[in-house]
Formats: sequence, C-alpha cells, structure tokens
Amino acid sequence: VTTGKLRDVLRALEVLPANLPKFDTESAPSDPVTLFLTWLANAMENKIAGPHAIALSTADGSGWVSSRMVLCKDVDESGRWYFSSDAMSMKGRELCANPHAAALFYWQQLGRQVRVRGEVATMGREASAADFLARPSVSRAVALVGRQSEPLDDPTELEAAFRRAKAEVDADPALVLPNWTLYALAAETVEFWQASHERRHTRLQYLRTADGWEKRLLWP
Ligand SMILES: Cc1cc2nc3c(=O)[nH]c(=O)nc-3n(C[C@H](O)[C@H](O)[C@H](O)COP(=O)(O)O)c2cc1C
Repeated sequence: VTTGKLRDVLRALEVLPANLPKFDTESAPSDPVTLFLTWLANAMENKIAGPHAIALSTADGSGWVSSRMVLCKDVDESGRWYFSSDAMSMKGRELCANPHAAALFYWQQLGRQVRVRGEVATMGREASAADFLARPSVSRAVALVGRQSEPLDDPTELEAAFRRAKAEVDADPALVLPNWTLYALAAETVEFWQASHERRHTRLQYLRTADGWEKRLLWP
C-alpha cells in the first residue's frame, strides 16, 4: 500500500461483520456489571480472541494521555474492573500522579465496545502478590527484570537480565516483585455500544449515583 492510495484502501475496508446482535436496551439490567458479564460471555462463546484485553488510557499530571493494552483480571459486583502492572512503569507512574483512567473493550466480530471510566485505586500488598504468583513463571521473570518502559540501549542486557530473573523465579517460586500492583478501576460511567448496519448504533450509558446506577441512552 502506498500512501497516495492509502485513503482509498482504508475507505474500502469492511469494519463490521454481516450479522450483528440486537441490543434490547429496554430489558437491560439495572447495573452495568451484570450486562458486562453477559457481553463478555457472548464474546467468549463467539471465540473472540483475547476478549479480556483492554485498551487502558491514563494521563500524566500535565494532561498528556497514553494508551496501551492490559488484561482484565476480574470485575466485581461493586463495579470495579481489575488489571495489574508494574507500579514503576509509565502507566504506574501516571496513575500515581493522576488516578483516573479509561478502559475500552472492543469485540469486533460482535460490533461491540464497552467503555469504562473512573478512578483507579491500588489494591493491597496481599492481593497484588496473589496476582503476581498466579502469573506463569516466564511472565513473573519478565516482570522481575523490571525497568518497564525505560529506554533499552542494549538488547543483550535484557537477555542477561531475563536469564538471571528466570533463575531467581525457578529457585524461589514464592518470590514476589515488590512493585507489582493490582489496580481497581471503580467505574463512574460504563457505556455499552452496539453497532448497527444502518449506523444508528445503540448506546446505553450507566452513571454511578449515591445509591446505585442510573441508565440513559446516548445519541449515536
Ligand atoms: C493483549 C495485551 C495484554 C497486555 N497485558 C498487560 C498487562 O496485563 N499488564 C502490563 O503491565 N502490560 C501488559 N501488556 C503490555 C502493555 O501493553 C505495555 O506495553 C506495557 O505495560 C508498558 O506500558 P506503559 O509504558 O504504558 O506503562 C499487554 C499487551 C498486550 C498486547
């Protein structure tokens, strides 16, 4: 693809599958977690790859925004979405300076997105350690190497650091990276978006209130 033609190539791409599910907002549950779990189950039934992958956006203290993928580790009844990372990574440092984030799930084959926005809190040492120990040993070793998001001047340094970390993990399966952190994003708003071929997409937003959740439809 050459850049001169890119515009035409992009315009010709298919975005939505032929069959899209219907979204009956009238019968939607009164809380977003129940609906999220139904949609996630649908995504898994439809064999969508990485249905628990989230595009997570954070901002630093000056308002610069960055996004990256993370994995959703859990969702609880109170409307908290969990993910984990190294607190010393860019996202960890940004969340420390500005504990607000947005999380986006996108299930292309269903024409669905779910957008979660809210405040992020760090969970305690114990919960973070449990999350770390549940990771495969290679993932634990990579995390142990640390320095996530720092410039890497020499890739051979990484190999050596990884081998040392892997040996440490193998020698002590209970080893926990102290900076490993389980984060909980407490939703203030959750939006469920269902594409339609007529482009009258259906959007249902839940807003957290003092005593539960309020629902409203949004213009597409
Ligand atoms: C599908 C997918 C899942 C990922 N899951 C995680 C994760 O759960 N935690 C994590 O720290 N990084 C995860 N990563 C790597 C991040 O996208 C990112 O490269 C890394 O965390 C550094 O981000 P930062 O510099 O913004 O802190 C994942 C990447 C992909 C593509």
